[in-house]
Amino acid sequence: MSKYHKLFGAGITAAAAGIIAIGLTAGVAQSQMMKPCCDEENINYSKDLWAAMTKAGLAGSGARADTPYKGQAPHGAILETITSEVKVGKHTGKVIVKRNFGGEGVSVDSVKGDRAKYLKAVTVMFKRDTGYDKDNNDWFWVKYNPDGTLATNPKGMPLAGRVMKGADKGCIACHLAVKDNDYIYGKQS
Ligand code: HEC
Repeated sequence: MSKYHKLFGAGITAAAAGIIAIGLTAGVAQSQMMKPCCDEENINYSKDLWAAMTKAGLAGSGARADTPYKGQAPHGAILETITSEVKVGKHTGKVIVKRNFGGEGVSVDSVKGDRAKYLKAVTVMFKRDTGYDKDNNDWFWVKYNPDGTLATNPKGMPLAGRVMKGADKGCIACHLAVKDNDYIYGKQS
């Protein structure tokens, strides 16, 4: 984990709490006009994105290793974050792939020794074409299980697209706290 990360981590909770409250009112209006996420179109897109990431060596069994570091809630005890670019259809965009490791005995060293054993989820932000979600900088949010299938929230909703746009929790709500940094919290490699 970088120094920057440690510093940043401390202020996040307080900042997030304040900004989420503001985000709510505007969000409700938007979500009525546009499907926030998780419909078939977004689900299909998430499959194409997984395929593109696999091809680029960012996901799947052949994925390249990076440097695991101690993470913070909600993403996992140990994290690994890679920033790159992938092409989906005709669109090339920035992708931030975050591998979330956990489970008994998880540590930076144990993850380095056996990534597959501790991998719990892969959370991704992909910069889509302009206009996809202009209120939130056109990010596509998705949470995959280690095998590339879509993860679901406790209500069974698959997490892919403008995830929980306008809601008071979920990907966009929490990342709104770092809106001024293009919704990105921390480490970029
Ligand atoms: C409650 C707050 C919260 C929620 C909800 C949340 N995140 Fe994050 N996210 C964070 C924090 C904090 C970091 C920085 C973690 C680190 O690297 O130590 C982060 C980092 C990331 C990163 C790496 C880029 C960055 O911002 O540093 C990605 C990609 C990401 N989150 C995707 C998602 C997706 C997809 C979802 C929804 C499925 C989600 N996040 C939900 C707080 C949140």
